[in-house]
Amino acid sequence: MTETFSFTLNATDGAARTGVIHTPRGDIRTPAFMPVGTAATVKAMMPESVAATGADILLGNTYHLMLRPTAERIANLGGLHRFMNWNKPILTDSGGFQVMSLSDLRKMSEEGVTFASHVDGSRHFLSPERSMEIQRLLGSDIVMAFDECPALPATDEAVARSMRMSMRWAQRSRDAFGDRPGHALFGIMQGGTNRELREESAEALRQIGFDGYAVGGLAVGEGQELMFSTLDYAPGFLPEDKPRYLMGVGKPDDIVGAVERGIDMMDCVLPSRSGRTGQAWTRRGQVNIKNARHMDDPRPLDEHCSCPACRNYSRAYLHHVFKAQEILSAMLLTWHNLHYYQELMQGLRDAIAAGRLNEFVAQFHALRAEGDI
Ligand code: GUN
Ligand code: ZN
Repeated sequence: MTETFSFTLNATDGAARTGVIHTPRGDIRTPAFMPVGTAATVKAMMPESVAATGADILLGNTYHLMLRPTAERIANLGGLHRFMNWNKPILTDSGGFQVMSLSDLRKMSEEGVTFASHVDGSRHFLSPERSMEIQRLLGSDIVMAFDECPALPATDEAVARSMRMSMRWAQRSRDAFGDRPGHALFGIMQGGTNRELREESAEALRQIGFDGYAVGGLAVGEGQELMFSTLDYAPGFLPEDKPRYLMGVGKPDDIVGAVERGIDMMDCVLPSRSGRTGQAWTRRGQVNIKNARHMDDPRPLDEHCSCPACRNYSRAYLHHVFKAQEILSAMLLTWHNLHYYQELMQGLRDAIAAGRLNEFVAQFHALRAEGDI
C-alpha cells in the first residue's frame, strides 16, 4: 500500500484511457464509476454490498454532511470512513453545486455563499476555506475545489463571469488545502459549452496545479449531444498524467461516450436512485419492473448478471416486492444497478487495455438496440 496519491496510466485506445489511482486507502481502477453515498450511506445498501459490486471508491457530500450530522461530529467519531464503515477511498464534493440545487435563500458573493438548510431552515455559510475545512474533518481522500456551476442554458457572459469566480475560488481552495500527503485536491473546470471558456478555465487550473481535474458544469440540462461535443475537446485541455473526472454523469450510454472521450472517473445517483423507483439498467437497456408484463415472468432480470437479485429472484418476485412497497425491492434493484454499472466499467477497462474499445462499444449499442426480451 502506498502512502502517497498517484496516478498510473496503463493503456490508451483512441482518446480513452485505463489506469490506476493509488491512494493510502487502496487503488482505484480507471475508468471508475463512483456510487453516491450522499448522507454517509449508499441508500438501501450495506457498505460491504457496495464493495461486492466492485466499487473502489464512493462519493460523499460536504453539503449534506455539514448540515447533518455535521463535519465536527463525524471528525469526533473518527472520520467519515469509520463512521459509515467504508474503508476504501472516498471523494467528497465541495458543496456549492448542492447549495444551488437544494438549499433555500441562497446569497452568493465573492467571499462565498450563505444559505438556509433544506433540512431545518437554519443558516449556514460555505466558502473555499470552509469547504476545505469540512472535507478535512470528514477525512476525504479526494477533496474537490469549491466552485459554482451555472445552470444551462446561460449567456456566454454569465458563464464566463461564473467560471472566473470559480477559478479564483480554485486558487483559494488550493491555498486553504495546504500540503496533505496521501490526500488529493482536484480542481474543477467550468465554462459551459463554450470552447474558449473551457480552455481558459483549464489553463487557470493548470497554473494553480492540482492532483486531478474535474470537468464540471455538464449534465445540467444541455443534453447528450452538446455534452459529447464539449467532451470532444475539454478533456484534451487537461494534463494527460492526472485523472480526469466528469461530475454527475450519467446514464450507461453517457458513461460509455465519456470514456471514449478520455474521462477516467464519474459519479451519478442514477443507478441507486433508479433502484428505489423500480427502474433497472441492464445490457439490454432500461427495464421498468413496475410493468405488469413481469407479473408472471419466472426469468431473472438479466440471465447473464451474477448479482444476487438476478441469481436468486425472478422478475415476478421483483415486480411483487416493488408493488408491495417492500424495502427489499430497493435493496435488490439498487444492488443489481450498481453491479451492472461496475461490470460495464470493467468491460470498458478490459476493452481499452486490449485495444478493442470500438468493438466493445459497438456490441454495447447493438444489445441495447435489441431491447429487453
Ligand atoms: N456535480 C455535478 N456537476 C458539478 C459541478 O459542476 N461542480 C460540482 N462541485 N459538483 C458537480
Ligand atoms: Zn443483476
